[in-house]
Amino acid sequence: MKLKDRVAVVTGTSPNIGGGIAEGLAAEGAAIVAVDANEANARDCANYLKSQGSRAIGLTCDVTDEGQVKATVDTALKEFGRIDVLVNNAAFFNKKGVLDMPYDEWNRQTGVILGGAFLFTKYVAKAMVGKGGTIINIISTAGHQGEPGNIAYSTSKCGLLNFTRSAAMELVGHGIRVNSLTPTATDPSESFERAARWGRTVKKPESLDRVMKPFRDGIPMKKLPLPSDYGRAAVFLASDDSSMITGTDLRVDAGAIARYWAWEPKAGATL
Ligand SMILES: NC(=O)c1ccc[n+]([C@@H]2O[C@H](COP(=O)([O-])OP(=O)(O)OC[C@H]3O[C@@H](n4cnc5c(N)ncnc54)[C@H](O)[C@@H]3O)[C@@H](O)[C@H]2O)c1
Repeated sequence: MKLKDRVAVVTGTSPNIGGGIAEGLAAEGAAIVAVDANEANARDCANYLKSQGSRAIGLTCDVTDEGQVKATVDTALKEFGRIDVLVNNAAFFNKKGVLDMPYDEWNRQTGVILGGAFLFTKYVAKAMVGKGGTIINIISTAGHQGEPGNIAYSTSKCGLLNFTRSAAMELVGHGIRVNSLTPTATDPSESFERAARWGRTVKKPESLDRVMKPFRDGIPMKKLPLPSDYGRAAVFLASDDSSMITGTDLRVDAGAIARYWAWEPKAGATL
């Protein structure tokens, strides 16, 4: 048990990536504080983990509301006495380009991704000072490349990469490590299976395999990562196994970012 007696706050605990990370950390012994603006996502994640014998609470919180963030961190500390791990995962998708995106939507999306990570880091890091801890920011391969038509998302994910480095330098003297984890287009099958385990009725859209095909075809490993793959990487960054690692990004992307732009994995040949 790599995280026995540790306490982890995970934001954005839908049955997809946040839920997969929360389950991964819990499987290594961590108590989980599942945080989500959507009450059901916080509650169902925590209830499932409790049903499996873990310690967990679900807290409803908008990561952009400073008062709610402070109250959530206070409640977590009251419940478990400490916070050792923070995973800033909450985000939402709103694919719009620079020519079309309304300014208020830009502010909201960058606010959730960057502002939410800033606020949770601020209040959790204050609680970690004097004790140490680890913080993991969830990026996206869209934060490493120029994705068209997704301007606020890819810009804020890129910003989160340097937030990670800057916060790592600010907090290194307090024994707090700050790293990021980069997922990419994710195999959706596991999130349906997880939602069902959480007691939800879910139906996989028939179009899903067709929608995901170009991603599977273009990725070097020819298969997409699962949320549980990110969960295991988060355990590494959260645990003492990574005790000499701070300010870095761990890509769990099946080779997506390493791919030379003109090479077509479909052909399976060199240029
Ligand atoms: N799904 C992918 O293919 C993919 C790829 C790369 C990176 N990511 C990143 O992984 C993370 C999780 O993605 P996902 O696919 O699981 O998304 P998701 O939509 O399933 O989960 C995001 C969760 O964040 C919550 N959330 C949104 N706004 C919030 C707010 N203001 N306050 C609190 N909670 C809020 C939502 O309610 C939701 O439960 C995100 O950071 C995303 O950018 C996802």
